[in-house]
Amino acid sequence: MKKIIFAPAAASIFACLAVHLLPAQQPAAPHLEKRGAVTQLIVDGRPFLMLSGELTNSASSNLDHMKPIWPRLAAAGLNTVVTPLSWELIEPKEGVFDFALVDGLLDQARQSHQKIVFLWFGSWKNGTSSYAPFWVKSDTHRFPREMEHGNPIETLTPLGIASQQADARAFGTLMHHIKDVDRDHTVLMMQVENEIGVLGDSRDRSPEANRLFASQVPAELTQYLQAHHDVLDPDLKALWDANGDKTSGTWTEVFSDSIRADEIFMAWHYARYVQAVAARGKAAYDIPMYVNTWLAERGGTPGEYPSGGPEPWVVDIWKAAGSAIDIYSPDLYSSFFVDWCNRYYRNGNPLYMPEAKGGAVGAANVFYAVGEDAALGFSPFAIEVMANANDPLAASYHTLAQLAPIILDHQTRGEVHGFILDQDHRTANFTMGGYTVHVAAGRLGFGGSNGSDPIGGLIVATGPDKFLGAGKGFRVTFTPRSGEQAGIASIEEGTFEDGKWVPGLRLNGDEDEGGKSWDFSGRQVNIERIRLYRY
Ligand code: DGJ
Repeated sequence: MKKIIFAPAAASIFACLAVHLLPAQQPAAPHLEKRGAVTQLIVDGRPFLMLSGELTNSASSNLDHMKPIWPRLAAAGLNTVVTPLSWELIEPKEGVFDFALVDGLLDQARQSHQKIVFLWFGSWKNGTSSYAPFWVKSDTHRFPREMEHGNPIETLTPLGIASQQADARAFGTLMHHIKDVDRDHTVLMMQVENEIGVLGDSRDRSPEANRLFASQVPAELTQYLQAHHDVLDPDLKALWDANGDKTSGTWTEVFSDSIRADEIFMAWHYARYVQAVAARGKAAYDIPMYVNTWLAERGGTPGEYPSGGPEPWVVDIWKAAGSAIDIYSPDLYSSFFVDWCNRYYRNGNPLYMPEAKGGAVGAANVFYAVGEDAALGFSPFAIEVMANANDPLAASYHTLAQLAPIILDHQTRGEVHGFILDQDHRTANFTMGGYTVHVAAGRLGFGGSNGSDPIGGLIVATGPDKFLGAGKGFRVTFTPRSGEQAGIASIEEGTFEDGKWVPGLRLNGDEDEGGKSWDFSGRQVNIERIRLYRY
């Protein structure tokens, strides 16, 4: 065979041609990636922090209504809008799809430089099926309902095969369309359904549900529990252990003759349904997908809170049912913010809360979520109602937007800590960069009219004896782990512009208590750098 060798010049011409003839390489779709210590959302090759907020349920059903909202949200520091999208509006007649609203929302988002997380209000929204199209709602034979206390209710049962197929087809068609039109990756993630679960009873009591409840637990589920025994949620593990870790039996035999078995039964069937819907969507366009949870934050029994939704103690049941869901999310309005974060940020589940409190509380909580638990983002509910440029959340978001590249880089090496202080948790201590770091309320104490606003902040270890801090209302002292003492070499406040540090005041004297503490006591969110020395 004759070997053709190109002269260097000719070779480089061919190489150039080849580059130009090849189709331009599309950056990968938004996806989750494990980088060092954390999992990050990667958008166009770079980690992305979602400074987001969720719209009220009906806001995004009309483009004229939304038009003035986008720029307002951008001014309030958002880079992502969590946007409802309902099955009834995209498939008003069976098999006939209308994506004008989707396209319009994408256009509007692009114009205000926002990203979108879409909420798929399909078969379920807050336990009910009010967003299903009329042709689904009105055909109760083909799309069967759950039964409570002997009566059918308006909610679709997850045991309905035709319902699952219809929802999956609609969601799959939507994802196919998004893939076609969203070349610049405006859509970052999809929430599949919304706050699932049976309300008013602990489980579906339809004849089919009763039959399945008296049948064997699927082997797939018990095998999963067995394989993941040591990392199961502690409550689920305790329940399964207490019943003898059985790998076969009916739901009550394996999970106890109690309401807990009802909840686990519903979790499994909802999860099977939702995993199938999500898998169909991913087959069309594979971007991160999550489900959200109406938290049992006030306690109560399954049915008082939605029974079968991904509460922490049944997340493993959801995971056993499939792998199309990437994230299990709390809708986190609770005052026990840290506790709920910790229950979801475990065992490889990244933290994202599509709904949370905004205002002063959200403005503090976001620092904890992002700083301590590497949250993919934060998202107060009813954002268009409360967000404005003077909202406390806006100050936190504008600060975090400046710091995002630094936080996202350092969190991969465990060099970021976040904290919240309140009346019950007045200090925080952690170790980083060779120091134990002590955080306490600053000299002005807690904010708000009755001192009830929490204080939030975060600290990044940026180099030997160097730290970067952000937040407001706290003061920090350092103890070197080496047994020496720490002195303050310098403190500087400033901002980051296009990633470059622009120094403001050099702080000393009253501002650092005469060299004694790193002080964020003011009422404004600040970014400051400190350099220490040891003696
Ligand atoms: C939780 C739901 O998920 C939201 O869609 C909304 O209905 C809020 N509750 C209202 O507080």
